[in-house]
Amino acid sequence: MAIVEVNQVQVTFGEKTAVSAASFSIEKGETFSLIGESGCGKSTILRVLAGLQREWRGSIALLGEALTPGRRFEGELRRNVQMVFPHQLSGGQRQRVAIARALLLRPQLLLLDEPTSALDMSVQAEILNLLNRLKAEHEMTYLLVSHDADVIAHMSDRAALMAHGKIQKVFDREAMLRGEHRMG
Ligand SMILES: Nc1ncnc2c1ncn2[C@@H]1O[C@H](COP(=O)(O)OP(=O)(O)OP(=O)(O)O)[C@@H](O)[C@H]1O
Ligand SMILES: [Mg+2]
Repeated sequence: MAIVEVNQVQVTFGEKTAVSAASFSIEKGETFSLIGESGCGKSTILRVLAGLQREWRGSIALLGEALTPGRRFEGELRRNVQMVFPHQLSGGQRQRVAIARALLLRPQLLLLDEPTSALDMSVQAEILNLLNRLKAEHEMTYLLVSHDADVIAHMSDRAALMAHGKIQKVFDREAMLRGEHRMG
């Protein structure tokens, strides 16, 4: 069953098109990642799926429920979709608290925007392993954004490369093991 279905989604800010025609779906239990250069629209997509960016076009279904632009998330949807922003936090302890807070409501879908940036390697590894363990224990689905190709390869079942607000390519585990998701 697809937990997330995004079809031809577009987000504009005045003249600026942040997301131009994004389409992808995420199966229950998957860790699906968005990668791509700064400004390509990754966080904007997460904010739409978290109900924080309510102006968008296209079609989206979360947990089988169709979203309506402009509408607040309520009830089950609100409980079941949580987001962790880390770059806003520094320090492993704080990041653990942010993750713990997001998990209190037992969400089915966790949106992770750079969850371990600004952490040193050992703390980062610990948090990523914690996330993987919690995901298995609580049967969650993750949508992850990271600039770190190693983090992407460690965590993801599939990773979608974005450029100019569109998904250009999707890498499966075999492709990531071959390093095809590594850019630049
Ligand atoms: N609230 C906003 N108002 C105006 N422009 C915005 C707003 N939010 C994002 N943008 C613009 O939309 C584009 C996509 O931004 P977004 O934050 O989604 O990129 P990103 O892929 O997450 O980048 P990064 O890797 O740096 O986090 C950028 O050009 C950004 O400047
Ligand atoms: Mg971002």
